[in-house]
Amino acid sequence: MSEKERLTPVHAELPEDVILSVRHVSKNFTSKGVCVRAVSDVSFDVRKGETIGIVGESGCGKTTLGRCIVRAIDASEGEVLYRTLSGEVVDFTKVDKEQMKGIRKEIQMIFQDPYSSLDPRMTVLDIIGEPIQANYPPKSLLHRLLGKDDGKEHMSKDEREALVKDIAAKVGLNTTYLMRYPHAFSGGQRQRIGIARALILKPQLIVCDEAVSALDVSIQAQIINLLRDLQKELDLTYLFISHDLSVVEHISDKVGVMYLGRMVEFGETEKLFASPKHPYTEALLSAVPVADPDVEMDRIPLTGEIPNPANPPSGCYFHERCRYCTQRCMEEAPALREVDGRMVACHLAEELSLRGFDYSQEA
Ligand SMILES: Nc1ncnc2c1ncn2[C@@H]1O[C@H](COP(=O)(O)OP(=O)(O)O)[C@@H](O)[C@H]1O
Ligand code: SF4
Ligand SMILES: [Mg+2]
Repeated sequence: MSEKERLTPVHAELPEDVILSVRHVSKNFTSKGVCVRAVSDVSFDVRKGETIGIVGESGCGKTTLGRCIVRAIDASEGEVLYRTLSGEVVDFTKVDKEQMKGIRKEIQMIFQDPYSSLDPRMTVLDIIGEPIQANYPPKSLLHRLLGKDDGKEHMSKDEREALVKDIAAKVGLNTTYLMRYPHAFSGGQRQRIGIARALILKPQLIVCDEAVSALDVSIQAQIINLLRDLQKELDLTYLFISHDLSVVEHISDKVGVMYLGRMVEFGETEKLFASPKHPYTEALLSAVPVADPDVEMDRIPLTGEIPNPANPPSGCYFHERCRYCTQRCMEEAPALREVDGRMVACHLAEELSLRGFDYSQEA
């Protein structure tokens, strides 16, 4: 069966500019006999060329969601519809491993710690070129001698090196240093190596998981600017996961706020930052540092720990830490619904007047 036949189009109703549609995705883990619902009924669409930021405190399920999307792990429930570069729509929760192979190179992940994800014994040239080697190995001697076609795509060593040099230059690496090992590079440069490696197979969608969180603020800004430039040049779509709202603000068109595995607010970045509709978003925003050091921050304290996802609270998961909590909040879980042009899961979303990020205090 040809690849084209195997990728049977499904859900033809997916709007044409949507390349990823996450629908009611949940992921349960069972560890030591206890079930943890790490992601619970999350849905959103991603349009081509867009950047979606996913924020929330540590442990709220961001990484698990990202891993379900790139199908590093299987979702327990729900659908992940993806429009391939050739235009077919596939459901990641239904395609088998063999089918996934062809699609996988279109979706790449960039991780937080570029050092631990780079093999210290490989040169940077080989690290960046490895995905090519794996997907388009050079022809074997036998094939070259016999001149036979083995039905696979190949790339010679020279072709591979030329591509590596090209992408290395695009991400701002000095191409004369490509024979060096990762330890010879700074944190920011190592993240550039990770980005080059993710881009070498010309992907369509990149999931960045805390991609700049380990870097100094000035280096963070450089890498974010680089990602934005690359997005325009290479027509990339990003899912940008970070616990740090200030990072997400600068790159995202839309932001999703997660709490204990659930999406509690989702909307356009500017609107969500200027006038949040969920008390959790309000509290997170109040902790975003402003550029002026003389401005005193008026943080809304997030009292108490994040609840244990294996034993979540009744009603609204946020009620134990919410300063607006009512009796209803303790009993009834709020559904995600549209309020003022965005999606919010709070019983009081229409009534509350919440404080947004104070842009007047920004540099
Ligand atoms: N492989 C796993 N096995 C069991 N529990 C896990 C596993 N991965 C994540 N979890 C749990 O799922 C929840 C969400 O984790 P994670 O997705 O890493 O959150 P985040 O990236 O937002 O910090 C946490 O409670 C975490 O302990
Ligand atoms: S539903 Fe109630 S407890 Fe939950 S965020 Fe809204 S006001 Fe707070
Ligand atoms: Mg994480």
